Amino acid sequence: MIAELERAAEALRNAKSVVVLTGAGVSAESGVPTFRASDGLWEGHRIEDVATPTGFERDPALVWQFYNARRANVAAVQPNPGHVALSKLEDRFTDAFTLVTQNVDGLHLQAGSRNVLEIHGSLRETRCLGCATVENRGLEVLGDRPLCPRCGARLRPNIVWFHEMLPVVIWETAQLAAAGCDVLLVVGTSAVVYPAASLIPIAKSTRARGATIIECNLTPTAVSAEVDIGLYGPAGETLPALLAAL
Ligand code: OAD
Repeated sequence: MIAELERAAEALRNAKSVVVLTGAGVSAESGVPTFRASDGLWEGHRIEDVATPTGFERDPALVWQFYNARRANVAAVQPNPGHVALSKLEDRFTDAFTLVTQNVDGLHLQAGSRNVLEIHGSLRETRCLGCATVENRGLEVLGDRPLCPRCGARLRPNIVWFHEMLPVVIWETAQLAAAGCDVLLVVGTSAVVYPAASLIPIAKSTRARGATIIECNLTPTAVSAEVDIGLYGPAGETLPALLAAL
């Protein structure tokens, strides 16, 4: 592990441009549950019921109960040392640093990260099904059938569900950053959800030499065989250790 840490620090020292891809694991130590628990359920719900457009059409109240519970959970937690280490890493690279997150909890921004691309949306935002207005409503609990204060139509969470497209400009910006980076740091993601996980082959293959891929995860994952350096352990410990080794 110490040798891997030193190799990872060396890759970062030599890098001009860095992209980080994070998933639920980076927030696990804050107390936000990850998705792929062994029972295949999210907080007791089937993914099709609470994270698809058809699930929302069928039972919007159930979907809002699920997201209101997630909003309440996030309102009660704080960023952990892993989030803080990533915001300090950005201070070192300033403009040549992009943090792409699959998380909707907003904890990277709360920890001080600035150049954050939330490719799966945000728990704090609502989107109107009538006038399409996206609004940041913080983490207040919104009830089972919230309505748009502007036009009175139904609101939905501004979250990317299964079978939906990623926000186009945000996703294009993420792909461009990955294609041009020297190091891609992949933190706390099972890397099985696409297109997010495609940032790894994009970073590896776009330029002649390819970026160095560093994985930080509790355990090896579906992409471990393809990464250059693996740091296995809780991100709240490995990321501060990596920063200290820099
Ligand atoms: P997953 O739940 O699939 O994976 C979480 C990963 O975090 C696993 O690989 C764990 O080993 C790792 N992990 C857990 N605790 C950790 C810790 N303390 N330190 C480091 N790693 C840890 O979550 P994601 O990969 O984020 O999409 O899932 C991707 C997407 O699937 C989510 O964004 C969500 C879901 O569908 C949407 O909601 C659109």
